[in-house]
Amino acid sequence: MSKKDFKRYTVTAALPYANGPIHIGHIAGAYLPADTYVRYLRLKGEDVAFVCGSDEHGVAITIGAKKEGVSPKAFVDKYHELMKKAFQDFGISFDIYSRTSNKIHYETAQAFFKTIDAQNIFLEETSDQYFDEQEGIFLADRYIAGTCPNCGHTNAYGDQCEKCGTSLSPRQLINPRSTVSGNTPVLKPTKHWYFPLDKFEGWLKEWLLEGHKDDWKTNVYGQCRSWIEQGLQPRSITRDLEWGIPVPREDGKGKVLYVWFDAPIGYISATKELKGADWEKYWKDKDTRLIHFIGKDNIVFHCIIFPAMLKAEGSFILPDNVPANEFLNLEGDKISTSRNHAVWLHEYLQDFPGRRDELRYMLTSISPETKDADFTWKDYQQKVNSELVAILGNFVNRVMVLTWKFFEGKVPSAHELPNTNEKRKRILDLYNQAHTDLSKSVIDMAAALDDFRFREAQFHMMNLARVGNKFLADTEPWKLAKEDMEAVGCIMNYALTVVGNIAIACEPFLPDTAKNISAQLNQDLTAAAVKFWKEKTLVEPVVPGHVLSAASLLFKNVEDIEIEQQVEKLKKSKPSAMSTPVAENPVPPLKPTITFDDFAKLDIRIGTIKAAEKMEKSDKLLKLTVDSGVDVRTILSGIAKYYTAEEMVGKQVTFIANLAPRKMMGIESQGMILMAEDGDGKLRLLQPNEVVRPGSAVS
Ligand code: 2FM
Ligand code: ZN
Repeated sequence: MSKKDFKRYTVTAALPYANGPIHIGHIAGAYLPADTYVRYLRLKGEDVAFVCGSDEHGVAITIGAKKEGVSPKAFVDKYHELMKKAFQDFGISFDIYSRTSNKIHYETAQAFFKTIDAQNIFLEETSDQYFDEQEGIFLADRYIAGTCPNCGHTNAYGDQCEKCGTSLSPRQLINPRSTVSGNTPVLKPTKHWYFPLDKFEGWLKEWLLEGHKDDWKTNVYGQCRSWIEQGLQPRSITRDLEWGIPVPREDGKGKVLYVWFDAPIGYISATKELKGADWEKYWKDKDTRLIHFIGKDNIVFHCIIFPAMLKAEGSFILPDNVPANEFLNLEGDKISTSRNHAVWLHEYLQDFPGRRDELRYMLTSISPETKDADFTWKDYQQKVNSELVAILGNFVNRVMVLTWKFFEGKVPSAHELPNTNEKRKRILDLYNQAHTDLSKSVIDMAAALDDFRFREAQFHMMNLARVGNKFLADTEPWKLAKEDMEAVGCIMNYALTVVGNIAIACEPFLPDTAKNISAQLNQDLTAAAVKFWKEKTLVEPVVPGHVLSAASLLFKNVEDIEIEQQVEKLKKSKPSAMSTPVAENPVPPLKPTITFDDFAKLDIRIGTIKAAEKMEKSDKLLKLTVDSGVDVRTILSGIAKYYTAEEMVGKQVTFIANLAPRKMMGIESQGMILMAEDGDGKLRLLQPNEVVRPGSAVS
């Protein structure tokens, strides 16, 4: 939690590329946590600007447009509308969902560039860059692929190796090839502008490494520290492309701003569009708290590069926190647009109408806050049926039905219950216990929300219903009704109070349910909610004599057939009409011919894995102990995403036995495990089709 008291909040959620529909991985990564947090802030009465929009520039767009055979503009127009609608239909409560092709954004991004340029901060350099002669284009970012110099992955891109996460520039790729034509590129000189990130290293160490050591999430802080400690380099911020924001310089004709330069400025443009003349308060006042919600692949841009740009520009506030999430997998496998291995938001909304909160609940309860998480349909069914239906829905419905049964739908009085017999004494004890437990849950929930621990916060919210159920089960008002209606009145009054508090508490997590409960209570809870959230205390939202509306069920069970249909749909994995596989890996072109002597130099063997462990601080590397037939050696392999350490033990693998040892993360790797890489980027082991003795040579 931030130590400072802020006057207002600017909350951003990563601008998604306008190149395909939204899936549950996007939602769990940035949009749902952001929406939950913003709803919480609004309930507390805070002044919030919640901004987002489509990211419409860069190679992700031009490649997608080319594939669909349309212009980049037509392409982004289509996807912007689809994405905007999906967010809206799902109830993500952006104050604005803008887009970076808007005029206001062009002006804002160019003005930002000019302010830095006027201080002579950018470096200008003409250098040789890869050029595709057939296509007549320079190859930056995803227009170029090759072998990663860090991990040997053969499909690394010009901006990043997706296997080991290393940030790359095209000239670092081994065997580069154009992803547009497959051709080997030539070098050609071109001029670009660079942002001197290296000059901000000292400042970043102080502002980020010192200043946010204790309040940023460890996954975020750790990634930033390792980046900064590896040493920062100047970053090119312009590109030779036709699609993008023109570089605002006389000598910048034909060049555009790099998408990662303009996109984060999109947050500012969107705020301008939203707030008009008032926008500056949200970006320039030190009493405004700026928070970026993103997925882990965006950490470096939001925590290092964009803050350095803001610092260079000079007039803006800096992010106070960047609660980035890890990734969400689906049924044990990476979510993949190209293989259609995803749960698309628009399809979920069609298949499960009126069940938005069920998906919100599931995604928050498995939120990848500290490590990657897995969505399975079985788990979804279990969470809905045994938690939402059986705990929350059941409690609210029991209270409503009993109140109608015993008090004709009128809230009974909460008069003092004279402590006259053993049963009443017990009821008072149970009431006191419930009240203590509920008060603690409210405090714990708010603390978790303040700290971006949404899974935990939702658990505490559900605790209100758990405690409510227990209170009813222990006090048994249905039995007491035969002998002591005064006591039943007290119990039901309190139970209704708990229902009202649940309606308020669940709003950030389950907004439809909050409305539904409030409607059943026939009660506007706005004022009570402000007190509840501001003071983190239970409130008394219903008064005796108030008449409730009719009871209805909040949730219904997810049936086996519904889940089976979804699992079947995933198994079919046929390309979706709406999905555009932009990051699809083409089959790599053949490498130049080698001589037999070159080949004979490779010592390829079969080994048996004796032990395996996951490397700490790496979500990619496994440390394998391999019986090579001649020795027992350590080999590090970037397969942790595809194989667990446990399942590797006992497996036979193919490896290069005479590769010069290399140190990675302080450990020497004595060889390389050979893998086959599928179009989805997934790696699979190469194994002999029957067990052979370790050390068998492959020829
Ligand atoms: O990774 C992405 O999808 C980017 N379009 C995120 C941009 S976030 C911000 F900088 F705009
Ligand atoms: Zn790599």
